Amino acid sequence: MAWNFAAGPARLPDAVRERAAEELFRRGPDGACSVERPFTGTIFRATLAHARLRLAELLDLPADYHIVFMAGGAMHQFGLLPMNLACPGQRVAYADSGYWSRRAMTEAGDLVAAVEVARYPGESALAAPAAGGWPVPADCAYCHITPNETVDGIAYPELPDAGPVPLVADCTSSFLTAPLALEKFGMVYASAQKNIGISGLTAAIIRQDLLERSPPELPAVFSYRRQAAAGSCVNTPPMLAIQMAGMVFDWIAGQGGLATMAVANQEKAACLYAAIDGSGSFYRAPVAVAHRSPVNVRFHLAAPELTDRFIAEAEAEGLYHLRGHAHIGGLRASLYNAMPLAGVAALVGFMADFSRRHG
Ligand SMILES: Cc1ncc(COP(=O)(O)O)c(C=O)c1O
Repeated sequence: MAWNFAAGPARLPDAVRERAAEELFRRGPDGACSVERPFTGTIFRATLAHARLRLAELLDLPADYHIVFMAGGAMHQFGLLPMNLACPGQRVAYADSGYWSRRAMTEAGDLVAAVEVARYPGESALAAPAAGGWPVPADCAYCHITPNETVDGIAYPELPDAGPVPLVADCTSSFLTAPLALEKFGMVYASAQKNIGISGLTAAIIRQDLLERSPPELPAVFSYRRQAAAGSCVNTPPMLAIQMAGMVFDWIAGQGGLATMAVANQEKAACLYAAIDGSGSFYRAPVAVAHRSPVNVRFHLAAPELTDRFIAEAEAEGLYHLRGHAHIGGLRASLYNAMPLAGVAALVGFMADFSRRHG
């Protein structure tokens, strides 16, 4: 048995992978399979409507929020956010909690004036910025956060207070891993290849008042307002990724929904962090305990020269994609919804064995 701990594109639930293998390329009575049909036809429109409805149910979507499925990744949104949500000359606010929030701020800063309102303490204290007292200028179009930093393994323990400025969140690595208090946000977005399905798709959940901000001169494919008005079909959408998303949403619903996902994810994370903390400092998890990500567990060996050996021996035991992001090194195990406890148990067992042999 091999286990894939990749941070994304990540493991799909087994049942979804099997369903997809069965359904995606099977031709129907119209002589076409999913990837051969017009996106304007009734069959794809039903698939799209199903995905949207299922997601709305999972999120308990408030009436004034819209689900927009857009082509591309979360990084596309880094540019689309200021283009859609900021008026000419208006500033935008960003909190720096690690690698991805910094990249989001940099991309926005190339288009409009971006104000940094909170800062990641840095390698000396691995934690999200403190949640209170953010100096968010009231004239900012939005305040952007990254609730779960995939690379750094940092998660906000509580939502920050941006005052009257709407919070916009890049939930790419935490989306659907726990219930989400959508009413606290103006917008959340997540690319699909971690917890929604396969790459090429981003789900954006946008409150009506923010949706109305998209300027009329913005090209239709980039405009939140026009994409929402067109039911995410201004042009050919990523049809396969949307169909897969619907299957993942069905699977999550069948498991019991987001509360069930949260319990399972906490259990997996607790198991792995306990193994790290109980290793007599052979393994170390550098992030402050209250700020540890439940889904991207970052750790390293006290003897970093053993890292390559750890990875090689782990692979020999069927445990893959454990190397930390190239930006920070070390090790990282991503435990999204589709990773069962059995995968974590296999990793923990290997880690104990490795530390006995090399400790
Ligand atoms: C939090 C976060 N934001 C943005 C991205 C970039 O996503 P994409 O590759 O879909 O553009 C990632 C990718 O890992 C991520 O984890």
